[in-house]
Amino acid sequence: MRAASVSDYRELARRRLPKMFFEYIDGGSYAEATLGRNVADLEAIALRQRVMRDMTKLDMSIETLGQQLSMPVGLAPVGMAGMYGRRGEVQAAKAAAAAGVPFCLSTVGVCSVEEVAAAGVAPWFQLYMLKDRGYMRDLVARAKDLGSPVLVFTVDLPVPGARYRDVRSGFTGSSGLSGALNTAWDGITHPAWLWDVWAHGRPHTLGSVAGALQQGRRVTDFLSWIAKNFDRSVTWRDLDWVRETWDGPIVVKGVLEADDARDAVRAGAQGLVVSNHGGRQLDGVRSSISALPRIADAVGCDLEIYMDGGIRSGLDVLKALSLGAKACFVGRAWAYALGAGGEAAVTRMLGTLRSELAVAMILTGCGSVAEAGRDLLDHDLAIAKE
Ligand SMILES: Cc1cc2nc3c(=O)[nH]c(=O)nc-3n(C[C@H](O)[C@H](O)[C@H](O)COP(=O)(O)O)c2cc1C
Repeated sequence: MRAASVSDYRELARRRLPKMFFEYIDGGSYAEATLGRNVADLEAIALRQRVMRDMTKLDMSIETLGQQLSMPVGLAPVGMAGMYGRRGEVQAAKAAAAAGVPFCLSTVGVCSVEEVAAAGVAPWFQLYMLKDRGYMRDLVARAKDLGSPVLVFTVDLPVPGARYRDVRSGFTGSSGLSGALNTAWDGITHPAWLWDVWAHGRPHTLGSVAGALQQGRRVTDFLSWIAKNFDRSVTWRDLDWVRETWDGPIVVKGVLEADDARDAVRAGAQGLVVSNHGGRQLDGVRSSISALPRIADAVGCDLEIYMDGGIRSGLDVLKALSLGAKACFVGRAWAYALGAGGEAAVTRMLGTLRSELAVAMILTGCGSVAEAGRDLLDHDLAIAKE
């Protein structure tokens, strides 16, 4: 199948990846209500069709936090991408750089920040707060020394949400002989992945935090490692000590409430990502797109507002811009593409988002992403979501 859309990349990734990795990417927490809402609420928003305007000139570029982006899209931090494609973070970072959009490297990437930087891309760096603050300080300093332009501090994962699919697939909680046999069978029955990632994509560790992982740990044990090592005592005051090491822009990722957004401003953040972690944390919370307008109204003049969760097309990007986002990040969309066909597929997927965004702009009469506003939307539907 030639992939035409993000859902096609999803299907290709489902065929190519071991079940445990596909389910890990695809799934959400508990009953996956929020995951479903992220997508459904975007779908429910209606754009307004406008005709007979000269749309020969389109401006999709933005400038944000000192970065020039060719379109208002970035690759969200996705853990363990090196298990979906050979040295997956490097492949995705190269695809993003070629497309002129940011790649944000997860704290729990398979490739370290050093490996991605050595490939010629200084990634935005995503930070999870581990209990070992000395280690965290060194990690932030490493990213800074390698030229990472933006630090993305994820605040919605003091503990991992319960993800039933990971238990069912054997990704978490399986041990002993049956666990090992299950893993082996999952790998053997996906030979393209076995050759690409298992045989030629080593080492399979969490590169940036390898020093903090206990020796001999399998990469697939990392959710239990997170539960033990992530710091749930973290507060806004911790941004102060991050600042002692990091003097560049800080983006707080994982805000859904206007009050928290105001706290992020007070704590000195330069940006925030309206996000529920792709429906992977507290199930039952509202969709990101429905949280966006209130947050944009509350703090839109104070910092850069980004949004992620449920973005599956360029149409979705335009809807989010119309409701107040400066740019959108995609998580699953690039993870599926990476699993489906590596760097080339991530490049094609970004090309698809770009052309879909262009078509949506032309057909709504929006010549510049900077001008996208609520007038592009059918107000009855847009406001019903607020
Ligand atoms: C497989 C997977 C791993 C993720 N790992 C991280 C991570 O390490 N750090 C982080 O801040 N967010 C992580 N996220 C959340 C994404 O950054 C983003 O918020 C989410 O995927 C957006 O929703 P979408 O997948 O519908 O685009 C992950 C998401 C997925 C799907």
